Amino acid sequence: MNATEWKEKLSAIRDSFSVSIAKKPAENPEALEQRFLGRKGELALLLRDLKDIPLEERKPLGALGNAAKQEMEAKLAELKGSAPAAGPAVKADLDLTMPGWPLPKGTLHPLTHTMNRLAEGFLKLGFTMADGPLVEDDYHNFEALNFPPFHPARDMQDTFYVAAKDQGGKDMLMRTHTSPVQIRALEKAQPPLRVFHTGRVFRSEAVDASHSFAFHQIEGLYVDKNVSMADLKWTAATFMKDLFGSGVKTRFNPSYFPFVEPGAEVDMSCIFCKTGERCPVCKGTGWLEVMGAGMVHPNVLKAGKCDPQKWSGFAFGGGIERFAMLLFGIHDMRMLYENDLRMLKQVNL
Ligand code: PHE
Repeated sequence: MNATEWKEKLSAIRDSFSVSIAKKPAENPEALEQRFLGRKGELALLLRDLKDIPLEERKPLGALGNAAKQEMEAKLAELKGSAPAAGPAVKADLDLTMPGWPLPKGTLHPLTHTMNRLAEGFLKLGFTMADGPLVEDDYHNFEALNFPPFHPARDMQDTFYVAAKDQGGKDMLMRTHTSPVQIRALEKAQPPLRVFHTGRVFRSEAVDASHSFAFHQIEGLYVDKNVSMADLKWTAATFMKDLFGSGVKTRFNPSYFPFVEPGAEVDMSCIFCKTGERCPVCKGTGWLEVMGAGMVHPNVLKAGKCDPQKWSGFAFGGGIERFAMLLFGIHDMRMLYENDLRMLKQVNL
């Protein structure tokens, strides 16, 4: 065989390889490899024939043969789906007609976003997150919070009872507020203590624009030496400013909750009021009631095994839906649960 014949043969092998590799459906790549590149494959045999060709002509032919070999190896690797990084590797499952950017991105539910914002505010003030169960016993939801049995204040919160009883045979219920987390936190750790909790609560209430039978609350508890009402006022004001901006004012009105003394309602200045108009959100009063708060009642400290002579504390709690509605300008609470995409997609971080 002379050099010209050898080149013709190489080109014939390359042609037949190209035809084989382009076949649809694709041929088995291992079989192709064996046939062309194997020890007794077509290319290997041809390379062996080089020995019959005079040395000075042999060199460029060898280079041609090696180039053909590399090309075939690359094509085979591509066929096996393991194409080398170099070169545009187009795999069958990559649809180049798909839109590339922007990628569709999930959004946070306005309530989740509000809870995250509240949590950030409290973490910044050195509060840590505490937890408690949704199905509570009467002790944590009421008794330890200074609601004795038959106390009329129990009627302030219409309770869903569940069929199960606790170990002492007492009623179990869906927690009506997040305040039982105060007791659970005190049971776990002694003061100084700074904790908050956000979570779901349940009340047997008719659903309307501002009520739901399942909603969310935030709870905060701070117990230390010499904690005063002034600390509570500063914390509440800072927290409101963090959420609604530095222009927001806070005021306290006397109120009653069995687990605090003195107790207060916390109002914030209305963020929707425009001068000269009767505001539909605050009904023209200029103030919105947002939280309950007060100094932790000595009986609650005792239930948490803390000596009220030594420790004092404040607690506060409020509805998260209310905050979300104010933050997003939502006028009907039911919209938060209807999963209308226009509602769900508005938190775009
Ligand atoms: N738990 C009370 C409620 O659900 C709110 C509150 C919390 C009041 C903490 C005082 C202190 O209305």
